[in-house]
Amino acid sequence: MSDKKKLYIRTYGCQMNVYDSERMAEALGADGYVETDTPDDADMILMNTCHIREKAAEKVYSELGRFKGLKAENPDLKIGVAGCVAQAEGEEIMRRQPMVDLVVGPQTYHRLPEMMEQVAKGEKALDTDFPEEDKFEHLPKLRRQKAKRNPTAFLTVQEGCDKFCAFCVVPYTRGAEVSRPVERILREARDLVERGVREITLLGQNVNAYHGAGPDGDWSLAKLIWALDEVDGLERIRFTTSHPNDMTDDLIEAHGTCKKLMPYLHLPVQSGSDKILKRMNRSHTAESYLRLIERIREARPDILISGDFIVGFPEEDDQDFEDTMNLIREVNYGQAYSFKYSSRPGTPAAERALVDDAAATDRLHRLQALLTEQQRAVQSAMVGQEVGVLFEKKGRFEGQMVGKSDHLHAVHVQSDAPVGALRRVKIVESRTNSLKGELLD
Ligand code: 5AD
Ligand code: SF4
Repeated sequence: MSDKKKLYIRTYGCQMNVYDSERMAEALGADGYVETDTPDDADMILMNTCHIREKAAEKVYSELGRFKGLKAENPDLKIGVAGCVAQAEGEEIMRRQPMVDLVVGPQTYHRLPEMMEQVAKGEKALDTDFPEEDKFEHLPKLRRQKAKRNPTAFLTVQEGCDKFCAFCVVPYTRGAEVSRPVERILREARDLVERGVREITLLGQNVNAYHGAGPDGDWSLAKLIWALDEVDGLERIRFTTSHPNDMTDDLIEAHGTCKKLMPYLHLPVQSGSDKILKRMNRSHTAESYLRLIERIREARPDILISGDFIVGFPEEDDQDFEDTMNLIREVNYGQAYSFKYSSRPGTPAAERALVDDAAATDRLHRLQALLTEQQRAVQSAMVGQEVGVLFEKKGRFEGQMVGKSDHLHAVHVQSDAPVGALRRVKIVESRTNSLKGELLD
């Protein structure tokens, strides 16, 4: 039958949205939709949105405006908005953009097939509940086809956040912290491996707070990692994003002893000033963070530390900013993401006075210059080292493969090994955004 309908999904924001988009594609796949990579000939356009920073909502409205022409050409085109903007602004979206047929929050995408039935009848569908039932429990119904996959995959193990950092929308858009049961995660992991996946990144807004139900009570993230370590064919395990307060002893220890757990840790600190950390409701200090990094490095000396930073948070003065710069100097980051504070409606910090914008911009530039310098130095220091590289795709040149090192650096290698091969490589050169390596075996 030629009734396959085309689905175009545009994904914004974090890795969890990437994972969610894949799951939504499967849910709609059961409804006869196949994915296409252009909106032009789509029967359905779904925007999976992000609300974490900047004027994300405004961006969604202007993108929607661009799809207006497509809808005029094809009145049967369905347009949906998913993700955190959908959660935060659901009804407002429907009001401002009447051409939107469907609005679905991040906790209800398992209800998409029913919502699509409504849409097919010409009705509008909106669901931004935080339902009692867990959407993950419904995943088996939306079984993925046994299609071959790339060698790396995301796997959501935990969602939501109970930390309520004063600047952050996540506890409101993604809801309270929920962990998936161990058995379901292991089943999904085995399924991914059967389909060619060699590396799994466990995802959660607060992934190290994981406490999913196991066969003998709640399991920690470390325990889950050890169970995944036993999955034959799985070669590498990563996880993101972690909170300093949930870096438990068993997780630190796993970094030293679990061979499949890669030497890379994303551990946001946000600020190096205790005054600001307190105002941010971070419940850790600069000193406790530094001590933690020290302990992690004792367990795994070559671990690459990555972080997130916010500059220009309300009340941040020059001294607070210098404290952040000093913390960065002490940690020596191999990777980092930094942002100018942007006020998010509904969060506690949204009530507070902003710092001078020019000062915040200047701080951001200085902070990014320091972080870039550190990242380059950490990358250059890889030259001469032997690392594992998992080949993800062919390179631009004949016989060249591109993959990621254990420390998540992009590496180019001359090799005739296939995608999915994990090889020992000696790093011989550091370039702007990648490394060059030579095969060792
Ligand atoms: N303004 C700027 N940056 C923010 N982040 C979260 N909320 C805000 C905000 N309101 C950053 C934090 C977080 C990352 C995912 O985004 O650094 O760790
Ligand atoms: Fe947001 Fe992370 Fe803080 Fe949770 S821990 S409120 S997700 S910044």
